[in-house]
Amino acid sequence: MTKIGILFVCLGNICRSPLAEGVFAARAEARGLTHRFHIDSAGTGRWHVGEAPDPRAMAVAKQNGLDISHLRARQIVREDLSRFDSVLCMAGDIIAEIEARRWAADRTAPELYMQAAGLGAIDVPDPYYGGPEDYEAVYRMVSAASDRLLDRFAG
Ligand code: 4NP
Repeated sequence: MTKIGILFVCLGNICRSPLAEGVFAARAEARGLTHRFHIDSAGTGRWHVGEAPDPRAMAVAKQNGLDISHLRARQIVREDLSRFDSVLCMAGDIIAEIEARRWAADRTAPELYMQAAGLGAIDVPDPYYGGPEDYEAVYRMVSAASDRLLDRFAG
């Protein structure tokens, strides 16, 4: 069976999208669906390329029994829009940034993550300049969205 490719995208690829990737992977594994998906995450920015997730993102993951320390940041490239079936962006400004690169002719149009999960046309707020409570809020949103996305893609 062909795997469903899903790319999670944020700005730095060290906070929101690694949490989205890590939680989705864990939920897929819990349902025995790992083999159905090819997932990855990326950022529109390149400041953190090669880095592990932000310590605050790793901490909130760990509090919830999840290890995301193996993930490494990378920047989105044009080919991602043909390689992946879904490109799920954590916020509207990320979609705008991808569209500004005029990659629109490629196969996969970027979508808003929460909307793709059926949870409304809302952003997952950037927690980078916030505190632990902002990372907890990201975790809660990603937790709800991951189950909904699994229902959508593997239902
Ligand atoms: P992320 O958070 O997009 O959720 O990974 C950010 C990480 C880094 C920066 C901004 C947001 N930064 O400006 O370096």
